[in-house]
Amino acid sequence: MKWPILLLASLASTQSIPPMMRFECSQLVVDRIDPLVNPGLTPSPHLHQIVGGNSFNATLQHDLPSQSTCTSCTFSEDFSNYWTAVLYFKARNGTFKRVPQAPSEGLKGNGGITVYYIPDTQNKTTVTAFKPGFRMLVGDAAATTPQPARKVCHRCMPASGDNSNINCGAPDAQELPKGTCAGGIRTILTFPTCWDGKNLDSPDHK
Ligand SMILES: *[C@@H]1O[C@H](CO)[C@@H](O)[C@H](O)[C@H]1NC(C)=O
Ligand SMILES: *[C@@H]1O[C@H](CO)[C@@H](O)[C@H](O)[C@H]1NC(C)=O
Ligand SMILES: *[C@@H]1O[C@H](CO)[C@@H](O)[C@H](O)[C@H]1NC(C)=O
Repeated sequence: MKWPILLLASLASTQSIPPMMRFECSQLVVDRIDPLVNPGLTPSPHLHQIVGGNSFNATLQHDLPSQSTCTSCTFSEDFSNYWTAVLYFKARNGTFKRVPQAPSEGLKGNGGITVYYIPDTQNKTTVTAFKPGFRMLVGDAAATTPQPARKVCHRCMPASGDNSNINCGAPDAQELPKGTCAGGIRTILTFPTCWDGKNLDSPDHK
């Protein structure tokens, strides 16, 4: 997976904005499986929207990207999988309805998520592709109060959209908006930009 570095280099030479890569991954499936937190448990306690390579399974006994033959993401060079919680609206009569997901501004797709790869803007770290089998998780599925680290945040979007500030700064909040949001709710999950270079996983996957 050498292409992200090439792409980042060409962007950096033509633009003054920090180099980054941004792409859409459409919904692959919505299912109660989580091979990272609940390997082999079907159904898993939480429902997820899964995007990415087609070899996704309830277990991670295989290296997913090398077993996949196609992906719901824009770039066919990346067969990674990404999976996220699914949000429900609770009506006054007690029924739940899934909140539809939509691609970010300027991108096309069926539901899904937008993936950003943002390198260290000070060039202090070396960018490499993930090693086979690399896994990571952010957030806490059991959290009922805002968490100390601002890694998961939400913004009530105006109808016009707003692509500013993807670092969880104001007006993003750690709680879901309470009112109606004309442009929907934007949720950001921030993963670390660097890792120890050795361990592909850790007991809590963080
Ligand atoms: C997919 O998951 C099922 C159930 O956990 C398991 O039996 C099967 O071997 C897995 N397939 C692969 C390719 O890992
Ligand atoms: C409950 O309320 C929702 C939202 O108003 C509505 O779509 C649904 O049909 C209602 N269900 C029942 C059983 O009344
Ligand atoms: C980091 O590297 C890029 C590409 O070589 C360059 O355009 C940019 O100015 C560098 N940034 C810093 C802070 O040195």
